[in-house]
Amino acid sequence: MLAANPVLAFDYFQPLPKDVPIPADNPQSKAKIELGKKLFFDPRLSVDGTQTCNGCHNLAAGGEDGRAFSIGHNGATTRRSAPTLWNIGFQTVLYWDGRARSLEDQFVDHVADPTISGFTQTDELIARLRKIPGYVTSFKKVFGTEVTLASAARAVASFERTLFTPDSRYDAFIRGEKKSLTEQELRGKELFRTVECLSCHFGVNFAGPAPGPALGMGDGFYELFPNHLGTEYDASHHIADDQGVFEFDHDPGHKRLWRVPPLRNIALTAPYFHNGSARTLEEAVRMMAKTQLKKELPNQEVDDIVAFLKTLTGKRPVVSLPKLPDTSGSTIFP
Ligand code: HEC
Ligand code: HEC
Repeated sequence: MLAANPVLAFDYFQPLPKDVPIPADNPQSKAKIELGKKLFFDPRLSVDGTQTCNGCHNLAAGGEDGRAFSIGHNGATTRRSAPTLWNIGFQTVLYWDGRARSLEDQFVDHVADPTISGFTQTDELIARLRKIPGYVTSFKKVFGTEVTLASAARAVASFERTLFTPDSRYDAFIRGEKKSLTEQELRGKELFRTVECLSCHFGVNFAGPAPGPALGMGDGFYELFPNHLGTEYDASHHIADDQGVFEFDHDPGHKRLWRVPPLRNIALTAPYFHNGSARTLEEAVRMMAKTQLKKELPNQEVDDIVAFLKTLTGKRPVVSLPKLPDTSGSTIFP
């Protein structure tokens, strides 16, 4: 499950590839993606109809909700901050602690989560979807079967794999358009390498090796956070209260271990960290330098790195609302 850092070369800037990896057992199709999109925007995927995937992962914006913690089923507060879903198809494991090994598994876990959709009995979700004639027809058409949890997961995962933000100014630069970054942004890019942010945040999503020979789908790339205990941030930002991978697998060797998170579109996803404790990108960069690298960065260097990180904002496609199948004349909620 835990891969050692296979690439310590600090020169590892890469553009976003044109294609997201597609698992052999869940090929993309237009009809499947459309079905997944409907499920993504459908409040009937939460027990009381208050949650949609988009509510916490807002695709009209940065792919998340701008909150430290989200409000989920029955007013529950989520345990961690909602991450962006833009470019999520490049992640080899899901969640801050990497405990889900595919987007399909992640969906099954999420709908059963009492703080998210609240279907602790997932059978109830499936029974509900089977009462919606339009879904019965769509599942039949796409999967050749009745509505099942596994098929719903496949459809939603297929939709999520279409969520790209290509052509950031950074990508243009890496592809050879040398004028696409300003002098300050270039200074920031160089600092990102020399300060050694790149030792953890490298590759296509700045989250470690891309899916492929170095890191298979289902294998995570993890590092400690905080790497150095004892900075003022332990108390002021409560960063060591949540022990990451350890909270899930209880392996004492995994305390404070976290998936290295992606940095694309990072300017759009404040507040930062698993507990949303950094309100601004400046604060996040300063904290990272201190907690991960024991470095105190001068203001100018923080500003330069932030300027560079802002060039990672890609072109967000317009996501139109799908037409949901109706249950004519009655409500499906309890
Ligand atoms: C109430 C808010 C909320 C709703 C609704 C919600 N999510 Fe999430 N989502 C979260 C939070 C919080 C996390 C991070 C949990 C963690 O890391 O432990 C997350 C994580 C994820 C991840 C992993 C992201 C990553 O970077 O690894 C995916 C994928 C995802 N959600 C998809 C969905 C889908 C699909 C739906 C609809 C079925 C959905 N979410 C509904 C809050 C929400
Ligand atoms: C030793 C590995 C390591 C190094 C070095 C490192 N990071 Fe991180 N970074 C992480 C981990 C792990 C997290 C996730 C922290 C958490 O769980 O909240 C993270 C989180 C972040 C976040 C917040 C992401 C989000 O979605 O909220 C930003 C921004 C960031 N790092 C930038 C940087 C910058 C800039 C540098 C250099 C000054 C740097 N990092 C150095 C491992 C590292």
